[in-house]
Amino acid sequence: MRRAIVADAHDIWRWRNDETTRAVSRKATAVTWEEHRVWFEQRLANLDSLILIGMADERTVGVVRFDRTVDQTAEVSINLAPDARGQGLGKELLRAGCAFASNDGFAAIFDAEIRSINLSSQRIFEQAGFVRLETQGPWLRYQRSA
Ligand SMILES: CC(C)(COP(=O)(O)OP(=O)(O)OC[C@H]1O[C@@H](n2cnc3c(N)ncnc32)[C@H](O)[C@@H]1OP(=O)(O)O)[C@@H](O)C(=O)NCCC(=O)NCCS
Repeated sequence: MRRAIVADAHDIWRWRNDETTRAVSRKATAVTWEEHRVWFEQRLANLDSLILIGMADERTVGVVRFDRTVDQTAEVSINLAPDARGQGLGKELLRAGCAFASNDGFAAIFDAEIRSINLSSQRIFEQAGFVRLETQGPWLRYQRSA
């Protein structure tokens, strides 16, 4: 894993607008490049965001993002490049991302909200030690301590 840089903006934008990703996101509509570019640069500069890129054989394969909500608590999201899905990389990235964020002192408690239809995501969060806390409509809330 490595920290995201400005040059990762395009990959993250493409992955975000993938149909499968949109179907499980809070905002299902596509994001324009201009909207994304502005948002991404703000996030990179924001000390309450940690954006990590997963690498495999020099290729970028996905992004894990942590948004700190309150002291030492961060919401986690993960999105793999569409051609990197279904190969077991999600759990590796999620574990490595949480280890990076806790070793870095960024957060000690990780929250995640996952759509009930998103079974592969639920599985990787459980494999990474997250526990399901509650259900809120179509969303399941998960948490893990570092
Ligand atoms: C969700 C995501 C990160 C999962 O990572 P992945 O590496 O592609 O996950 P996999 O397809 O290898 O599946 C992970 C596990 O779920 C299981 N799984 C996959 N689809 C399943 C299904 N329909 N029902 C039950 N289990 C399923 C797999 O068998 C695997 O289990 P295993 O490790 O015991 O073999 C990735 O697919 C992705 O980026 N999706 C789009 C964005 C997204 O959904 N992000 C999460 C938002 S909360």
